[in-house]
Amino acid sequence: MEERELKKLYRKFLAFHKKRFLEDASLWVGVENLHLSKNQLEAVFENYERDSYLIFARKVRCVLQSPNAFQYAVAFSTEQWGLERYLVFLTKEGCIRISRNGRVTCQNKSFEKLFVEPMSREQARVRVQKKLRRKLQLADPVTSLFPLELEAKYDQMPISVSSALFLVEKITEYIPLKKKFLFVGDDDFVSVFLTMANPEMEALVIDIDEDLLSRISKLAKKYELKIETRRVDLRKKQKLGGRFTGFLVNPAYNFEGVKQFVSFGLSQLAEDGGSVFVEIGDEAIGNRFLFLQEFFAQKGLRVREVAPGNISYPWVQLHEEDAILAERLGRFVSREAIEKAPKLASSLWVFDRIPFEVKHVAMKGSIYSYI
Ligand SMILES: C[S@@+](CC[C@H](N)C(=O)[O-])C[C@H]1O[C@@H](n2cnc3c(N)ncnc32)[C@H](O)[C@@H]1O
Repeated sequence: MEERELKKLYRKFLAFHKKRFLEDASLWVGVENLHLSKNQLEAVFENYERDSYLIFARKVRCVLQSPNAFQYAVAFSTEQWGLERYLVFLTKEGCIRISRNGRVTCQNKSFEKLFVEPMSREQARVRVQKKLRRKLQLADPVTSLFPLELEAKYDQMPISVSSALFLVEKITEYIPLKKKFLFVGDDDFVSVFLTMANPEMEALVIDIDEDLLSRISKLAKKYELKIETRRVDLRKKQKLGGRFTGFLVNPAYNFEGVKQFVSFGLSQLAEDGGSVFVEIGDEAIGNRFLFLQEFFAQKGLRVREVAPGNISYPWVQLHEEDAILAERLGRFVSREAIEKAPKLASSLWVFDRIPFEVKHVAMKGSIYSYI
């Protein structure tokens, strides 16, 4: 099955979903007391219930790949009405068969092949290790595997190998299709980890640093990875062209940095939606996080998770201020202890891009009505 056909299936699903929503809504707790007109119900559907193409693809993947279809409610923090809708639709379209114990079998191998297989960081470690033919040291910086002359002027600093593997786990968890994924800056070589772990995935890496890009290109050639690179200064507006399933960005950890890096990535996404992965450390943001959260909402970014504790930077002496900090900490603890601990850590924010404006629907809500 071509991806084009999945898109066609999506358009059919939208019509099917809308029809069922309008029929089923009156069955849900408390809805009858709201006395909603058909127009209001339609507006609820269009603004609150309609999924983007890439969320549709993620839901289809969940139904196809889970050991038991009932995983759906857990995966999307919801109830099984959504699952029932997908089972009816996909069965009607001849895509799946369901056995009485809830096991789903795909009826078309080429359809199944469109989807990314989610992978744990441990599975990713084993696969990357096999490609590189060396044991990975999880606490070491990624530059221990892929050496790079660090450019402090571009704010470069390597994360640990285990952090990169965590990012592979998260990207394969959220990104449903093997199509192109965008890296907005990649001094952490996550594009290389990702495509080594799953060589069917495609990536485009943009960065300001030519040396870094040529290193990534050489690795792509050597290991036959589907990575393209392009030199871009993201401060200048530019359309890259092409469709992306989402992007990863590790911006400068300050208010302006996060906004500019994320805005650049968003300007490359189109009507398909997409998943957005942003690493953020609280070095210079503080309570401005409130403004950042506003910025994310205005840009149509719906938070899916904020995961702290998985991304860290091994100690590295890059700036003069690092020496001052080491000297001050050294008054309490040994140099060895300082160098063993991470120098900096950040959280991963995962968002879904809603590719249309979501408007408030005028209605008098009730805390006991489920619509
Ligand atoms: C901003 S740096 C990493 C920041 C990270 N928070 C840290 O503290 O190490 C991430 C990537 O962005 C790239 N980068 C920096 N400025 C850029 C620009 N103006 N355009 C495109 N890429 C840029 C860097 O070369 C690097 O590969």
